[in-house]
Amino acid sequence: MSDVSIEALRRRTFAIISHPDAGKTTLTEKLLLFGGAIQMAGSVKSRKTSRSATSDWMALEKERGISVTSSVMQFPYDGHIVNLLDTPGHADFGEDTYRVLTAVDSALMVIDVAKGVEERTIKLMEVCRLRDTPIMTFINKLDREGRDPIELLDEVESVLGIQCAPITWPIGMGKRLKGVVHLVSGEVHLYEQGRNFTRQDSTIFKSIDDPALEAAIGAATLAELRDELELVQGASHPFDIGKYLAGEQTPVFFGSAVNNFGVQLLLDFFVRHAPSPRPRATTSREVAPTEDKLTGFVFKIQANMDPQHRDRVAFMRICSGKFEAGMKAFHVRSGKDMKLANALTFMASDREIAETAYSGDVIGIHNHGTISIGDTFTEGEKLSFTGIPNFAPELFRRARLRDPLKLKQLQKGLAQLSEEGATQFFRPLMSNDLILGAVGVLQFDVVAYRLKDEYGVDAIFEPVTIATARWVRCGNEKKLDEFRDKNAVNLAIDAAGELVYLAPTRVNLQLASERSPDVEFLATREHA
Ligand code: G4P
Repeated sequence: MSDVSIEALRRRTFAIISHPDAGKTTLTEKLLLFGGAIQMAGSVKSRKTSRSATSDWMALEKERGISVTSSVMQFPYDGHIVNLLDTPGHADFGEDTYRVLTAVDSALMVIDVAKGVEERTIKLMEVCRLRDTPIMTFINKLDREGRDPIELLDEVESVLGIQCAPITWPIGMGKRLKGVVHLVSGEVHLYEQGRNFTRQDSTIFKSIDDPALEAAIGAATLAELRDELELVQGASHPFDIGKYLAGEQTPVFFGSAVNNFGVQLLLDFFVRHAPSPRPRATTSREVAPTEDKLTGFVFKIQANMDPQHRDRVAFMRICSGKFEAGMKAFHVRSGKDMKLANALTFMASDREIAETAYSGDVIGIHNHGTISIGDTFTEGEKLSFTGIPNFAPELFRRARLRDPLKLKQLQKGLAQLSEEGATQFFRPLMSNDLILGAVGVLQFDVVAYRLKDEYGVDAIFEPVTIATARWVRCGNEKKLDEFRDKNAVNLAIDAAGELVYLAPTRVNLQLASERSPDVEFLATREHA
């Protein structure tokens, strides 16, 4: 086997999905601990103050060092290389979250034992569904009183529509938490308060029939456990790797992230069964991760630490081949070769200059706005990865300047910030308005703040009567021209130069599409 194949097969690239407060940050820390990146734990923690409040989020964004570094965390574990991609933590569910999920091969869902399936989890799960992403589940905070485990599995099955296959099962909960049973190996792992902080997880018994176990947890608890296990085995599904990989079944683990209990069992199972990089669709063919030639796509753009330099980091998910520091790659959209100098890799312990990277890995490429979200890089082949869409925004505002002389800076700022993908920028054909669209309302505050901070522009965003946007496409040039003439007042050009219909109301949109049956109105735009 080539080294490209060997390296690709040992990669595990995933993201954690959860409702805020379920324990994503804490679990991330513990996973890094097992990966030997103990130092990192501190900086992951420091992000959490940012969770919801707008002002906190901005203050945090200023420390972009942290957010760039923790966007991707790579650590070795048990012969594998694990890449954990962070999903943005703020309350707004944005396109950026969606696109991170296009760059992973599997996901880990964290659920609070007391709260069960929450709203944000449902939304993220829907996104995973779109690509049949395999999902493992960790039910967290077992050290607290929570809901009945069987009831929780029922809830996951009915609300999220995915079969549950418990891999570990809790022995008690809250103050009565004694440990977990591994349903596949039969081992029992004890929970010992104050002990589960190190890499070594816990005291282990070979099976529930081990005589020493009765002494450790008591005869009554053991009897109860036996009854419960019988019930569980009757009521739940055995683990089926095929169903898991197809996104139809989720293996379920119980534990307590903050006490580092049950985490190693999860991680061991994860590296063993979670998928290595999978083949990816492009405009012309499917690309296998084991191919020799480098390919990859950009799923995220982030302004770099120093706002003065307008330097951006484009995050590229590698889909095949081998990246080597300083190599040239073909930027398909522009048709030009680009030197990938000073690319970053994301070892959890520190940001480093990338020497090599393989399928499943993410590298960060410095650029000044030449690279956009959705761009493909190859070693010369003209193909583009598909499935990294822009969504039609649902909220719109008109940008207004306090100082009219700063118009040029405003235009530039809006265009550049929209390249990062969280907002979209439209210029109507018939007016000089600058319209900003976003999926979440927080984005407008962020843009206003950054315009001031990075571009020295004082802008406010005022309401505008636009209900929704649709990208317009038509195979027939003549019909398109006709359409453009008739509907010019509602048409605009987006930052990529594409024609967009900005509908004042949903009814208007419906009428417009009925009147022009040859024109397509698209709710997403694939990056060309
Ligand atoms: P998030 O990233 O998903 O938003 O959650 P995060 O890890 O920040 O955890 C949210 C809160 O839940 C934190 O408490 C954290 O300590 C706590 N937590 C995480 N795992 C467990 C667990 O296994 N058991 C218990 N009992 N609590 C857990 P906090 O009060 O917000 O912060 P802190 O001051 O305790 O750090």
